[in-house]
Amino acid sequence: MEDKWIELEAGCEGRSVMEALQAQGVYMAGNCGSNGTCGKCRVRFLSAAPAPSAADRKLLSADAIDRGERLACKAQAAAGMRIEMITPDESAMKVESSFSMPSLPTENLPEKEAGSAGAEGTSAGQIVAAVDIGTTTIAMSAVEAGTGRILQTVTGINHQRAWGADVISRMEASNQGKGEELQQSILSDLDELRKKLGLPAEVKMLISGNTTMEHLLQGLPCRTLGVAPYTPVDISLHEYENMTILPGISTFVGADIVSGIVACGMDESEEICILVDLGTNGEMAIGNRDRILSASTAAGPAFEGGNISCGIPGIPGAVCSVEIKDGKAKVQTIGGSPASGICGTGVLEVVYELLKEELIDETGLLDDDYFDDGFPVAEGVVFTGKDVREVQLAKSAVRAGMEVLIEAYGTDYDHIGKLYLAGGFGQKINLEKAVGIGLLPEELLDRMYPVGNSSLAGAVMAARDPETLERMAETALRSEETALAESPLFSDLYMDHMFFPEQE
Ligand code: FES
Repeated sequence: MEDKWIELEAGCEGRSVMEALQAQGVYMAGNCGSNGTCGKCRVRFLSAAPAPSAADRKLLSADAIDRGERLACKAQAAAGMRIEMITPDESAMKVESSFSMPSLPTENLPEKEAGSAGAEGTSAGQIVAAVDIGTTTIAMSAVEAGTGRILQTVTGINHQRAWGADVISRMEASNQGKGEELQQSILSDLDELRKKLGLPAEVKMLISGNTTMEHLLQGLPCRTLGVAPYTPVDISLHEYENMTILPGISTFVGADIVSGIVACGMDESEEICILVDLGTNGEMAIGNRDRILSASTAAGPAFEGGNISCGIPGIPGAVCSVEIKDGKAKVQTIGGSPASGICGTGVLEVVYELLKEELIDETGLLDDDYFDDGFPVAEGVVFTGKDVREVQLAKSAVRAGMEVLIEAYGTDYDHIGKLYLAGGFGQKINLEKAVGIGLLPEELLDRMYPVGNSSLAGAVMAARDPETLERMAETALRSEETALAESPLFSDLYMDHMFFPEQE
């Protein structure tokens, strides 16, 4: 990792170091909502370090504390403090905004040069902003309404991260009276991206996102989202003066999935297809023009580098590809920078390689040589037995969810036309390795289609042809949700898929 120093500015008193850094535009990978439990917000004080907190003592070694390391979310900020980042700054994260799908050929939609979307005398009425609000990142495309041509796409971080990395911490923050701040945060992010595109304030925005993001944007309470029976306040198609909120199916299967279903053309196709978003909530849908079933599985953030001891998002220095031979790992990192952690694709690859080299068995047990201290992936980057377990939990949840949906639909792998993999992780993974660890079914290997940001693609489609909105509303309405938590079959399959497949 590059040396990076930051001096805290005046006026930061009363905040945590993490909050003070965020106010200075520096974001960290902390993902426990500043609870002092994930240990992912490490900094080192180059000036006098504050007394260690209870969380520091629990999560950092005595040596690290002596070196001046602290958890930024638990240290109190003071102007003039000099801080070195140990957990890398997330501002450099590559945001996935590309997509590729059969029903929305991008070759007909060439992008203009950067910075030119609002040029050429086009008015707000002719250009629509298609938006995907993700929990971590936001992507916005300027789309020429008549032709559907994407003029330019810009991306940024969802600054609601300051209130926690996942939807649960955002819901909790909203429940604690921070709803208005969260709404202002996302509105200001949208405004920032709109300005980057050179679009006027009155430009029409078509917004796709998960149900929590859409609730927070609209200022709706989140209280009922996080407790059984998990009822959303409103997930229907909403038209505001300058904003259209795309419809979702349920609290856990949002407009981002409806957008994906429509963008992939599943709602009109004869063949039965599956769409899976390999993110934290593992949302998925199966169906065709006659019937659609959806579900979500609590896969956890392992494939985003979350809950992994050296896990980080896809930022420069993240190990993204791994090969292991004779107990030695050869890695590639994003941007070719020195390894500072491991991101989702690296996590998948290291597990596959450990299996292939028989350094973990089919139950996930690490070889004796690495049992105590973990397997060294790169200098300072270690993969532990607990990390393997996190991957097992994530992959078995996704795989079991997929198989319950297939069973509930009354079909089988032979009759699935395509498996669409949504999201940045699904776009970048090595499919053979994903099959090798049992995340994806071997039976569908020849029918897997990584489609990228299908949520943004749906919003672009709606910008291109307003009738898409009716398709989305209808799809959301007729999609049935399968509650996996109540399915005995899911529990059985979940246990089965905790094992890794035998390697050939
Ligand atoms: S320990 Fe999780 S954000 Fe600080």
